[in-house]
Amino acid sequence: MSFVNIKKQYLAIGMLVFVILFLFNTRPVFQCQFNPEQSSYLPTIYGITPTYLRLAQKADLTRLSQTLMLVKNFHWIIIEDSEEKTKLVANLLKESNLKYTHLNVKTQKSKHSTLLDINVCVFQTVKFNTSWYCASGVEQRNTALDWLRTHLATAEDKRGVVYFMDDDNTYSLKVFEEMRKVKKVGVWPVGIVGGMRVEMPVVTDGKVSGFNAWWKPFRPFPIDMAGFAINATMFLDHPEAKFSRKVQSGFQESEILKYFTTTDELEPLADNCTKVYVWHTRTQKPSILNPKKLKLKHPPIPDDHIEV
Ligand code: UGA
Ligand code: MN
Repeated sequence: MSFVNIKKQYLAIGMLVFVILFLFNTRPVFQCQFNPEQSSYLPTIYGITPTYLRLAQKADLTRLSQTLMLVKNFHWIIIEDSEEKTKLVANLLKESNLKYTHLNVKTQKSKHSTLLDINVCVFQTVKFNTSWYCASGVEQRNTALDWLRTHLATAEDKRGVVYFMDDDNTYSLKVFEEMRKVKKVGVWPVGIVGGMRVEMPVVTDGKVSGFNAWWKPFRPFPIDMAGFAINATMFLDHPEAKFSRKVQSGFQESEILKYFTTTDELEPLADNCTKVYVWHTRTQKPSILNPKKLKLKHPPIPDDHIEV
């Protein structure tokens, strides 16, 4: 065998090895094996949102649903405060491609309550209008919890986290990342609420030692609905846990939390409660002109057939 022939053999083997390595490297099966997303478990987030008919409802739900489309492993439980489910909400949910459960239950109690409800409803002045104000979302959230318990009872995977979400708040995607860490009950700051820039748990040596709240600071848990999430499995362990018409607005959070935790057991999230990832924004009530009352020479074309 001459020196030239040996060189050719090495060259052929070298090329073969190169071709084999190239083919294996481009096979997607090898790339998938190292995808970290496949191996890490993500608990389901059950977001519970009461909603009611008003002019800005579709705008609020559009903004919220489009945030939720970006959240992985999310199940939206939306409960209409109405006798019947509306087409507006049903279509919005269908078009969203979200995983959802659509429920309804009408609040029986009138917003303009009587003196008999003095312990439950508060007399409140908003922009020179004084009226009785009762807590919202009580029956709706309880209906959602009934559904959740039935669902989890037969579900193979009972793990998850429950988050009570108003339909007009502003949610950063980061708040959902935080709540997946919850073991029992996790808490974090809420921006622009209770007359403060930020209402938040006070953390000392990694534990919740109190709350920085100005509105009704004597509440057992002076914290907004948007500022905590609860391990879903615990709702099976506590079938009695629910919201109550017997307590007023502001105390509903304490009402549900009392079944699951104490202040010193709370798990501070969002960088030891130093970051704001959710804001208690409120959509301004729109003022719309009534063309019938205006008696205009050229009244606007009727628009009742258009869903807004
Ligand atoms: C605050 C809290 O952030 C709410 O979680 C709490 O339910 C509420 O107070 C209360 O206890 O009354 P706030 O902005 O004042 O929030 O309340 P809304 O956003 O008007 O209502 C809370 C949720 O209930 C919303 O998702 C809303 O769509 C729904 N809602 C409101 C009804 O289902 N029916 C109503 O008549 C009013
Ligand atoms: Mn709100």
